Amino acid sequence: MTKTITMCYLLLSLSIVYAATANTQFKITNNPADKLVAAINENRTAHKVPALTDNPGLACIALQYIKAYQGDCNAVGGPDGKKPPESQFAEDFAPNCGVAASTLAPISGRFLGCQSKYVHAPEAFSEILIRNQKSLDILYSKNHTQLGAAVTGTDGGSPYFWCVLFSSGKPNKTFTFETGVAKITKPGCFSGANDECSGASDWSPLSGIWLFATSVLMAMGLALPL
Ligand SMILES: *[C@@H]1O[C@H](CO)[C@@H](O)[C@H](O)[C@H]1NC(C)=O
Ligand SMILES: *[C@@H]1O[C@H](CO)[C@@H](O)[C@H](O)[C@H]1NC(C)=O
Ligand SMILES: *[C@@H]1O[C@H](CO)[C@@H](O)[C@H](O)[C@H]1NC(C)=O
Repeated sequence: MTKTITMCYLLLSLSIVYAATANTQFKITNNPADKLVAAINENRTAHKVPALTDNPGLACIALQYIKAYQGDCNAVGGPDGKKPPESQFAEDFAPNCGVAASTLAPISGRFLGCQSKYVHAPEAFSEILIRNQKSLDILYSKNHTQLGAAVTGTDGGSPYFWCVLFSSGKPNKTFTFETGVAKITKPGCFSGANDECSGASDWSPLSGIWLFATSVLMAMGLALPL
């Protein structure tokens, strides 16, 4: 009896791994950060506010912003919520991205969420990033002209961070790369750079599916006020 159950479990596990592998192969060009931007723009246009320009320089900075948390989900939101100091944008984030510090523009809003379970971009948007009226105000704000999104798993796995930075700067003239081309930094995915965000050493949703399979749940996320 126990043997049968173990066998069943094994087979089930194997099929989950197989499904997960097949999934990543089929969706090899599906960058979750690009999809997050698409979800935001669809929702904005449905609400009759203009879609925003996806700025890869700003998106790369969103990825650095996530990295500043060093995988510490507990530092996101809550009473002990931390926020990287403003000075880090010019001192660390921009140079890491190859973005000219002189082209930095004001951040007009930000979303940050973290949880141990991987979810796809539309769910990350509606279930993690949009939490309350304050997040809706940020989402529909007419102050933004552009945005950049980043998604990352720490060390190729859980916890998963989602970050969206909005800016009121002129698209194409702010957060520009010194060399003119996006500098892809790994691990993690960011929007707007036609980054496929795939490959063996990349971050992969596989461990997220495992976590899902074993129902390890812990969730938190929020929209940070400015
Ligand atoms: C936009 O997002 C909000 C928050 O998740 C949701 O309540 C609303 O239904 C969405 N609108 C559309 C058209 O998807
Ligand atoms: C838009 O910008 C104005 C002026 O800086 C500010 O007062 C307002 O709170 C901003 N709106 C949102 C939704 O952030
Ligand atoms: C800004 O960039 C977008 C997308 O690359 C392009 O379609 C648009 O023409 C550019 N605008 C200007 C003023 O260069």
